[in-house]
Order: sequence, then C-alpha cells, then structure tokens
Amino acid sequence: MITRVEGLLYGADYNPEQWPESVWTQDVNLMRDAGVTMVTLGVFSWARLQPAENEWDFAWLDRLMDLFDSRGIAVDLATASASPPAWFVRRYPETLPVTADGVRLEFGSRQHYCPSSPVYREAATKLARAIAERYGEHPALALWHIHNEYGDHVTECFCDVSAADFRRWLRERYGDDIAQLNFAWGAEFWSQRYSDFAQIEPPRKAPGPINPGQLLDWRRFSSDALLACFLAERSVLKEVTPEIPVTTNFMSMMKDLDYWKWAAHEEVVSDDAYPDPADSTAHVQAAMNYDLMRSLGGGKPWLLMEQAPSAVSWRDVNVPKTPEQRRLWSLQTVARGADGVMHFQWRASRAGAEKFHSALLPHGGTQSRGWRETVRFGEELAKLGEVAGSRIESTVAIVLDWNSWWALEAEDHPSARVRLKEQILSWYSVLHRWNHVVDFVPPDADLSPYKVVLAPNLYSVSTENASRLSDYVYGGGYLVVGYFSGIVDELDHIHQGVDGSGGGYPGPLREVLGVTVDEWWPIPAGRSVEVAFVADEESTQAKKKHRHSYSAGYHRTPVALGWSEWLSTTTARAVAHYTDGALKGRPAVACNDFGDGRAWYVSCDLGGDIEKVLAEAVRPAVVWPSLASSLAFSGVEVVCRSSESHHYYFLLNHGDKQVDLGSAVPYSAVNLLTGSRPTHLAAQGVAVLKVGR
Ligand code: GLA
Repeated sequence: MITRVEGLLYGADYNPEQWPESVWTQDVNLMRDAGVTMVTLGVFSWARLQPAENEWDFAWLDRLMDLFDSRGIAVDLATASASPPAWFVRRYPETLPVTADGVRLEFGSRQHYCPSSPVYREAATKLARAIAERYGEHPALALWHIHNEYGDHVTECFCDVSAADFRRWLRERYGDDIAQLNFAWGAEFWSQRYSDFAQIEPPRKAPGPINPGQLLDWRRFSSDALLACFLAERSVLKEVTPEIPVTTNFMSMMKDLDYWKWAAHEEVVSDDAYPDPADSTAHVQAAMNYDLMRSLGGGKPWLLMEQAPSAVSWRDVNVPKTPEQRRLWSLQTVARGADGVMHFQWRASRAGAEKFHSALLPHGGTQSRGWRETVRFGEELAKLGEVAGSRIESTVAIVLDWNSWWALEAEDHPSARVRLKEQILSWYSVLHRWNHVVDFVPPDADLSPYKVVLAPNLYSVSTENASRLSDYVYGGGYLVVGYFSGIVDELDHIHQGVDGSGGGYPGPLREVLGVTVDEWWPIPAGRSVEVAFVADEESTQAKKKHRHSYSAGYHRTPVALGWSEWLSTTTARAVAHYTDGALKGRPAVACNDFGDGRAWYVSCDLGGDIEKVLAEAVRPAVVWPSLASSLAFSGVEVVCRSSESHHYYFLLNHGDKQVDLGSAVPYSAVNLLTGSRPTHLAAQGVAVLKVGR
C-alpha cells in the first residue's frame, strides 16, 4: 500500500476554490457514486489560505477536510506552493523569475517564482508548516503532495539572486578552488579563465556559444535549486508528521530534473501522464515513462497522480480519448506498476485557462457520457483491489543518466539532431513490441539482477561507471551500447586515456566493446546509409528466415539515419557493415566476447532496425512469461504483476482488431474484470488474468 488506503486509489485534483460551498457537498456525494477513494486538495489554494501576509484562513479547508472524512474519502493534501498570491509578488517583486535574456516574468499565470529566492522558499515552507500543523493529525490526511510539477513552465532563473546561489553552489562543488573550476570548464579556451568566483554569472544570453562546462553545471545547479525547494518543504513535513508519506508529481521522462536525485527523498513516486490520443504510438512512450516511474522508486508501486479523462486544453489540437482508449490507457498505468489512477481534475472549470480541459465530472454533469465512464471505471478499478502492492520483475535494464543527457544535447556537437529520449524510445519500442518489461537504472547501479543491459547512448561516462559495465559483461552479462558513447568524462572532457596519450573513442568502453571509433560521420537529413548484417549476407536462406521473423513493415534493407561512424574492430567481430557511402565496407555493428559475457556496439542510428541487433542480444538471454511471448508482435501489451501468491497478467489490446487468445491463456486463469476465462480480446480491450503461482 502506498498510503493507508486499501486497494487501488481512484480520484482527481479537486479545486474547490473555483466553486461556491453549496457545490462541495454535491461534489463529495458524486465522488462517492463514482467510487473515488482519494482527492488531491489545495494545489492552487495559496491565495485563499493566506489572503495577506499576516492573515490565514483555514476555516473553509477545515470544513472540506471534515466533509471528506465523513464520506470516507482520503486526501492527498498539497502544500499549495506552486502559485504565489498577487500580494506576495507585489510585496516581493524580486521573487519573480528572470529569463536568460533578462526578462522578468509577470504575475498572471502560475509557477512564477525564482527557485533560489530565500524569500520564496521561506514563504513556501511557512505555508507548508502552517498546513502540516493544522492537518497533520486529521483523519482524512493520507499523503502529502509537495508543490506541483516542479519545473513546469519555469525550470531555471537568471536573476541576481540565482546568480549568487549559483556561485555558492560552484564554490561547494569545487572546494572553493577557482583553479579547479577553470580546469573543469576548460576555461583557457577563448580566454574564459576566472580569477575569482565573484566574476561568474549564470549562462545568460551571450554573443556566441556558451562554455559547455558552465552550461552543464548550470543544468545541474538548476535541478538542484528546485530540489532544494522540495527538500525545504519536505523537511518541515517530516518534522511535523514523520509518518505521513510524501510525494511530488513528476512530469514523466523530463530532461530538466535529475529524477534519480529527487526520487530518493520520496516515499511515493507519482507521475502526471498526458499521452496524446492523436498519436497512434503514444502508448509506447507512455509505457516507457511508467517503467521509469516504477524504477525511480526501486520497483515499488507508484501513483498516477494526473491524467486527463479525455482531452487536454494545451495542445494545438486537443483530440479527446475514445471511451475505449480512456479505459485502456488507465489500466496500462496499473499494469506497469501504478497503485492508483488519479486525474486532472474532478469538476471541469467554468473559467480560467483550463476551462476546456476534460474532467471526471464534465460541464455536462451527470447526464454526460464522460460521467458515465467515470462511474464505470471506478467500478472496474475496485475489482482490481487485490493487485495493489504487487510487483513487476524485469531482467532487462536501460541505463539513464541525466548528466549525460544534458551534456549530450549541448551545442556545437557533430550533429545537433541527436536526442537521447528519441534514441531510448526507438530501442524501448522493440522491447515493448516483444512484451519485455524494462527497468531503468542510473549509471552507477548494481547491474547484477539483469541479464541484459542496454545503453542506447552514454555520451558521458566516468571511468568508474565504465568499469562497472565492463565488470558486468566480464561476469557473464550482455551489454548493448549505442553510438557516440564513452566520449567524455563527468566534466564533459574528451576521454584521453590514462596517460593522456590518446587511444580514441569510445574511451573507457573500448576494451569491453572491442572497437575503436576513428571519426563520427553524421548523416544529413533526407539521406540514409544502407547497412547489411553479416548473417543476411552469408545466406539468402538466413535472410528469408530473418524477414519472416520480424513484424510486418520491417525494412528489407536496414538503413542508418542521422548518424554513422568510422568504426574499426579490435577484438570484436563485425556483425553488420555499411554498404554504401564513404564508409562502404566498414563495420557498422560489432559484437565482442568479453570474459563470460558479450557486448555489442552499434555505431549508427538504426531506428526501428535496431530490432535486428536486439534480437541477437536480448532474446536468447531472457526468459519471459509464455503469455507475454506468445502475444509478442500482436499489438497486445502483456505485463505481469506478481504478489506472493499470484500472478496478474494485464493484457492490453492497443490494436483495432479483436485478438484471439486461443490456448495462450492458462486454464485456471480468471479475468478479474469479468470473473471468467477469456478466449479473445476485443479491439482496445483489456483483461486482467489472475493465475496462482
Ligand atoms: C499539469 C498540472 C495541472 C493541470 C494539468 C492540465 O499536469 O499539474 O495543474 O494544469 O497539467 O493538463
């Protein structure tokens, strides 16, 4: 259980400030009708809770908390700090954030605060303390919801207060030694050396490319500055109510915040997920995000804190979810380890920037189709209560390192088009098609639970973490590394080898991968380079076999798009070659036996064709449930959650055709949603099979 509430949580953000009090009782009664078990309260209540600097008004929230308690609905109580009131901003205008080109952002939206501002932090923690002291013992309180979506709208601030905080952060990082900073930033370049920390400013708009070391530290600092806000509020809550779990809602795989650092301070990881109903592959990226959320909590169940019941209001075109999609996508989150499905928001707003955003209770009220779906889904979720607390096992891991991500996507690289998330997604999509669940791991993780470790890109890797990967392979692990990896160390300095005598790319990964890279050969947009796999070249028979073993639409001739490399093998053998262009005849993919394990290096962006490499690396190494393997390629996503006594197989048909389940379903299996053993799955249908262990 992630909170004291039994079963799977069901609910939404509730914004009672937007409604007269007479509506509240009606709302809470309707919540009961819909099977709501928890609401998130107070996310944007600062202006109501503290109408003036020395004035507090809790009476209305007291009444609401009591009302929820009287109806047995738990409260995920927000600390309300995401949107400071107008009086605060006018009294302390220096707390408004400033952009890189010096524009101070105005009041009138939300998230208008400088993360480094001591004035803001003090006000936010004072608010958190007042709320915690008032409601810490309230029986409705189940979870603390700190702030709301840190880094939404404003991820960094360039004001003078932030500049001073940046200098303090740098002094700490470099032991107050400016020479160390100059070295880390490569400051001899373009005469950028500093003689005092006082000379340093944030990377504000400058005439040309900004020092990459400065930018990388700025990204680290900006993530840490927001983290400090979170920790300040958290420590107050932990002091007043040590037993109440805390969370802050993440924004899926978000580049700006190093969520490994954040999640370490949460009892519950929660996520806000907004896959686009107009995108037919959105469920794959969603699965990837949910696997990340589970991994951030070390495998514990997590909480879907927000999703739209139907359309959002912030895309150019806001396509609604079909009723089937709404149910399917909601249950996908539970399949991948969520112990609750929460929404933004309960009642559709009548005014404000989000009045066209869908809600559990639409503008059309209880007469609407949306409301009927809200009630129906509440009933279904209640049938899955016993799934709460069960876990997912995976033997495949993907390495995700925010520091490397930030360094990779800096300016003035061989190609500006390399994007980590896209790269991870193209590899992840293959595993998703095969019904392999993936764990994400940080670069210094213990890799022993995994049969296969994938690093679609590890541009920046320390020699220590590279040794970890080498040891893992030496001990029998399988490792697949993507292009442009092992290039720089933690300082974003090119790996030079121990004695500085060179040695080439991919730096400390050369030995385990058995290759050297002479030069990168990025491929301009609109062009591609053909790649032939040795197995295919050797026999037409094998080629035919391969063609049949991959899903429909698979390329006959694999191609590299965007990126290729002048690659040589040392101890590895080439398993694919470039067959045209400047690199014709040179290795494109290499495989190296190393100790008891095996490592692959993929020197180009194969897009979906990465399937050919992963087929070699992953499929022989991993045993996965027969139900999952028999439905691979069928468009049915299969995920198994396990408790001590049972397996729960979630079967999610993302396709638009009915799928015959035939003999795939064990005889004793029962679909918890229907009470019987299913023989087929309707288009967009879901089954949750309970099978004894
Ligand atoms: C975010 C926010 C919510 C709301 C929704 C709308 O997730 O946390 O307050 O704005 O987006 O989609």
